[in-house]
Amino acid sequence: MTDPTTSLAPASRALDALASVIAEFNADRPLESSIIRGLTALQHSLDARECSLWLQTAEGLVRTWVAGEPEALEAAVTSALADDAEAGGVSAVSVTSSGRRIGALVVRLGRDADRDDGKLFTAVANLLAPELVHAERSRQLEVEVAARTAEIDRERRFTEKIIDSLPLGLYVIDREYRIQAWNRKRETGMLGVSRDEALGRTIFDILHRQPFEMLRREFDEVFATGRIQEYQMESHSSGDPRTYRVTKIPMRLGDSAVTHVITIGEDVTDWREGQQRYAQAEKLAAIGTLAAGVMHEINNPLATIAACGDGLGYRLEDLQKQGAAVNKDLFDYIEIIENEVVRCKQIVDQLLDFSRPKQLAKSPVDLNEVVEKTLFLMKHHSGFRKMALVKELDATLPVVPRGNAEQLVQVLMALIINATDATGGHGTITLRTRTGTTPTDGAIVEVSDTGHGIARAELSKIFEPFYTTKAPGTGTGLGLAICYGIVQDHRGRIEVDSVVGKGSTFRVLLPTIEW
Ligand SMILES: Nc1ncnc2c1ncn2[C@@H]1O[C@H](COP(=O)(O)OP(=O)(O)O)[C@@H](O)[C@H]1O
Ligand SMILES: [Mg+2]
Repeated sequence: MTDPTTSLAPASRALDALASVIAEFNADRPLESSIIRGLTALQHSLDARECSLWLQTAEGLVRTWVAGEPEALEAAVTSALADDAEAGGVSAVSVTSSGRRIGALVVRLGRDADRDDGKLFTAVANLLAPELVHAERSRQLEVEVAARTAEIDRERRFTEKIIDSLPLGLYVIDREYRIQAWNRKRETGMLGVSRDEALGRTIFDILHRQPFEMLRREFDEVFATGRIQEYQMESHSSGDPRTYRVTKIPMRLGDSAVTHVITIGEDVTDWREGQQRYAQAEKLAAIGTLAAGVMHEINNPLATIAACGDGLGYRLEDLQKQGAAVNKDLFDYIEIIENEVVRCKQIVDQLLDFSRPKQLAKSPVDLNEVVEKTLFLMKHHSGFRKMALVKELDATLPVVPRGNAEQLVQVLMALIINATDATGGHGTITLRTRTGTTPTDGAIVEVSDTGHGIARAELSKIFEPFYTTKAPGTGTGLGLAICYGIVQDHRGRIEVDSVVGKGSTFRVLLPTIEW
């Protein structure tokens, strides 16, 4: 007698399995979990150790979903893709879509599979096929979208990095004056506004300190003409006055009207100062050449005047010896002539020092010693004696390999005398030496005072020969001109920091490399 349960069991089991697989597939769940749950249902219904679904992708890769122990052999899958197969308790049927094998359903049973099992597997495989095709397509799409998004993101970050690395402030506005780009320098600059804060708002909201009408006109001009606009701007917002070169550049998204304006702001303060320094050096060199020529011409007539004065003196003495009554005035006149000639000679010599400092022998010089020597010589200067003196000497100061100590003493003396004059004799002078940051400015000596300071407009003139603000007879205006010439001859430079009413610092920077 056959047991009805055993003969019925395979068919009803298969139906049960199919029903639960279908139920799982119809459930409203994402496809991925439907597949896993479908396989799990199949596994339970069949008492299988494993149900797995392999999928052949376009790249030839095999993607797997597994319910149970993940042991399905790739060999079984490969053979299933070649031809449905059953081996060693592993049954595999191919999953086909539009006549193409796209994967395999693999089931490992604890027993031999019967015909009903085979039908069931085929039914489930057919059920899965369209879903898998769909799943694979959307997965591919997702991968493509993700790859494209990543690429766009990379490109965007790359361009952002470029504009953020620029040492310039940069922003872009659209036709509604709304900010569409705002670079790092604009975030960190003196008017630091964060990108999040700026983007999408109008430029007038953000740059509210600038006159609205003017700003708007500048943008409108670029929108209307499509031409680059460039101008310089002074700003005091960071305390020090800074000069900016602002450029407004039209940008077109399509190929007709200007859609955006790019604004670039560059801090050109240092560059401009460099230009000015250069112009100043040129001017002084020109004055020097001129002065040298003129002074050369003056030297000869001066020598003649001196000789004639001497001659006149001898003649007067002779006349006197011969008993003639010579008025004393005449001797006084001769003396005045001689003194004035000497004074002129000195000025001529000094001016020649500025234009062509004597090429004196150069040897290693210690600026600390120069400071001490200068102070020793200044001891007797009446004005200086009353000043408070602060000395800050850098004991590790490098030697200036090519220098002339005498001339450098002359420079320091001129600076100290000026400092004394600037304080009216009541103030503090600080003499400081320190090591520079580059070998071209390797050794530095500074003379600071608490005097009246120098107005910005005067700064460019003080090194010119004969420029003086002192009463006639007290200043020749040659002191700094000579310092400039000497320092120039040492391949160094002089800097001045000054605040009106507070004081000035004159800084001599000399190279510590051989030249
Ligand atoms: N330490 C200083 N403080 C203020 N002004 C200074 C200082 N040093 C120089 N100056 C200015 O520079 C001018 C030129 O200086 P200088 O060439 O030494 O000529 P002089 O001392 O004969 O006037 C001075 O008249 C003064 O106006
Ligand atoms: Mg002087």
